[in-house]
Amino acid sequence: MTMFEMAIFDLDGVIVDTAKYHYLAWHRLGKELGFNFTKEDNERLKGVSRMRSLDILLEVGGIEKTAEEKEALATKKNQWYVDYIMEMDESEILPGVLSFINELHQAKIRTALGSASKNARTILERVGLTNHFDVIVDGNLVSKAKPDPEVFLLAAQKLQIPPDKCIVFEDAQAGIEAGNKAGMLTIGIGDPQLLKDANLVFSGFEELTLLHLIMCLA
Ligand code: BG6
Ligand code: MG
Repeated sequence: MTMFEMAIFDLDGVIVDTAKYHYLAWHRLGKELGFNFTKEDNERLKGVSRMRSLDILLEVGGIEKTAEEKEALATKKNQWYVDYIMEMDESEILPGVLSFINELHQAKIRTALGSASKNARTILERVGLTNHFDVIVDGNLVSKAKPDPEVFLLAAQKLQIPPDKCIVFEDAQAGIEAGNKAGMLTIGIGDPQLLKDANLVFSGFEELTLLHLIMCLA
């Protein structure tokens, strides 16, 4: 018998590598504003909401803007980002993700998406994964960004599954913190040092089977 009834997946960095498209768009905005926004700077934006990401970018560039100007800059960045994601297809699903989700379906474990992105549904459509999730909670449905647990708690609530029967897959520190605060099991996908607060960390789904995961949790 498995110990969890629902698996909640973050999107960016777990299911697809959209961080590279976010970076291209933020870098372009930095360039327009007259500074070089580096890949290292971009690490700080993982799991962070669009407006908070813009604040970090402006802080890196030492630039101040009014609320109205910020709104316009965020819109501009998002338009460039949407141009990139409209080119995506199923080849961009990260290795092993689809077979892992299929294993969950076979085991009758519910699946959810818990993402900060307001573009989550567009991305799922592009890569053909929309119908693989029983529930989708994205940046349009929540008011409090990760590390607040709202996004994950809402997903659990929608399917009436107790939080302690949920497992969260996350690549961002803020996301692991959100999952822990929600009282869920947390699985880090990525660097074990960065994700040290997770219950377990794996480098990706390529090597991960449901059986292996259950054995690691036992
Ligand atoms: C998160 C990403 O999933 O979504 C962040 O990790 C991003 O980098 C955030 O800023 C918001 O995304 P969007 O698509 O609503 O701008
Ligand atoms: Mg992420």
